[in-house]
Amino acid sequence: MLDIYTLGDEVLRMEAEEVASFTPELKMLVDAMIDTLIEAEGIGLAAPQVGVSKKIFVVKLPNEDPIVFINPEIIETSNEVGPYEEGCLSIPGMYHDVIRPLEVMLQAQDVRGKAFTLKADGLLARVIQHENDHLHGKLYIDRIDDKERERLVKRYERQNRKKKEK
Ligand code: NI
Repeated sequence: MLDIYTLGDEVLRMEAEEVASFTPELKMLVDAMIDTLIEAEGIGLAAPQVGVSKKIFVVKLPNEDPIVFINPEIIETSNEVGPYEEGCLSIPGMYHDVIRPLEVMLQAQDVRGKAFTLKADGLLARVIQHENDHLHGKLYIDRIDDKERERLVKRYERQNRKKKEK
């Protein structure tokens, strides 16, 4: 299992780099990310969350096969938006409603470099947007009200301090 970087780690705030070559090492990283995601019982994991600043994320919805997104680009979003309670493996224990478009269309490449286009709605659309944000140094807490964010971060830091003291 790979180490998961958490709020405060600089790699989470960097613009990730494009993947230029589709090597066996890339496949190994992606496989390790999928294992880590399943182990952590999450539904999405982006490479910056495991300390690798590259445009890669993986999604694994319950009872579905994992999907790998490399060099993804959201090309269209619905005008219709809605709230959904999001969490993040990099901010463990915290959840907050985030408003986002309900449908997205994106282009990406698979682990062998083959391009694909995907139209998503529901939970998949939600996870795709959350993970895609990670590739641009953005976290879901950036998309909530300033006061709410301050409160969430304080609460998170308090819980973390307690954990470290133990
Ligand atoms: Ni996240």
